[in-house]
Amino acid sequence: MTAEGGLPGSTGAAGTGGADAPGAAAGPGAAARPTYRLVAIPGDGVGPDVVAAAKRALAATGACFGFEIAWTDVVAGGAAIDAHGVAIRDEDLAACAASDAILLGAVGGPQWDDPKATVRPEQALFAMRGGLGLFANLRPVSVHPALVPASPLRPELLEGVDMLIVRELTGGLYFGSRTEATGAPGARAASDTLPYSEAEVARVARLSFELARGRRGRLTSVDKANVLATSRLWRTIVHEIAAEYPDVTLDDRLVDACAMQIVRAPASFDVLVTENLFGDILSDEASVLAGSLGMLPSASIGARRTTHGLHGLYEPIHGSAPDIAGQDLANPVGTILSAAMLLRWSLGCSDAADAVESAVGRALDDGFRTADLWPRDPAVAETCTRVGTTAMADAIVARIGSTGGITGAAA
Ligand code: IPM
Ligand code: MG
Repeated sequence: MTAEGGLPGSTGAAGTGGADAPGAAAGPGAAARPTYRLVAIPGDGVGPDVVAAAKRALAATGACFGFEIAWTDVVAGGAAIDAHGVAIRDEDLAACAASDAILLGAVGGPQWDDPKATVRPEQALFAMRGGLGLFANLRPVSVHPALVPASPLRPELLEGVDMLIVRELTGGLYFGSRTEATGAPGARAASDTLPYSEAEVARVARLSFELARGRRGRLTSVDKANVLATSRLWRTIVHEIAAEYPDVTLDDRLVDACAMQIVRAPASFDVLVTENLFGDILSDEASVLAGSLGMLPSASIGARRTTHGLHGLYEPIHGSAPDIAGQDLANPVGTILSAAMLLRWSLGCSDAADAVESAVGRALDDGFRTADLWPRDPAVAETCTRVGTTAMADAIVARIGSTGGITGAAA
């Protein structure tokens, strides 16, 4: 349901069979089942709840498609600040680098929010994004028909929505130099800077053209070129690269106009590519289309390949929601769909990824809803079953491997 399209030639394991071959699940005497080495970072707040759910979905998928997962759990974020005094330890970052892929829940919470703190949970994210070279963050947004009533937008606007936001992830305002506030009260000042190099723009632009080529062939580059020098560089580079992709239609949007178009005509987008902070903001906005922030997955990838595919970090786009942590209330779908992206991009298991996405779709079709997805219309609510994190994961797990998820697998 959220298939973000292919990137020709980028998934190292594509065509090698491996865990994608359902026949590998056959009983005794079958070829050795591949074991993937994954790092789990539950993190803070609802992170442990949703990562546990996604681990179960991955285990069920492995049972169907014939692979095993060797998990290494890593402590990061606020939990690591409490345990080790830093958001992520160097040895844990090294474990992430040595894995096939990383599955992350969320980091952060009010107890670590002191604006004066020099150690913050989010530093774990930046250490992984920057340290592992994960320069592109893919955030697919589609609307499952059963969730149309959960969106505040009119149903006719949601028809055909299928966009992929590519957020540049290791540059711009997030990584530019900054100075914290100094000066006396009344005269305090602080600064952040937004640098981009040609190489940083070019690599994310090229990836976005490739992705657009594997989808509907349309790329929207989002900037603020009427104000920012980096946006003018961004636009120049993107247009130069466009010459290599004559089959992709490129257009430019200013970020403010784009924000409006995302709610006025969301179906008009295919692939969007944009600067780090713009992408952060636009993807939260776009999640409203899908019915809830809890629905959206993401993949952060770079150029590094493992034996199986691209090395990457997978996480829902929602935060740690500390108010509902540990209460079996969080929606696990964004994390389970992130696990599907992990299967597709980092493990080269696109059939298994499709099976997970299909199982999520069928659980929604069958009326399972976490609190964030509960329909406002009582007549629609009548047809739904309210579930917590665990029961939602149960509903999805039960549908992975049932007819429809792996059509053709039994043949
Ligand atoms: C996201 C989050 C993070 C970001 C926060 C937690 C630092 O909002 O991944 O979108 O801004 O990148
Ligand atoms: Mg964000």
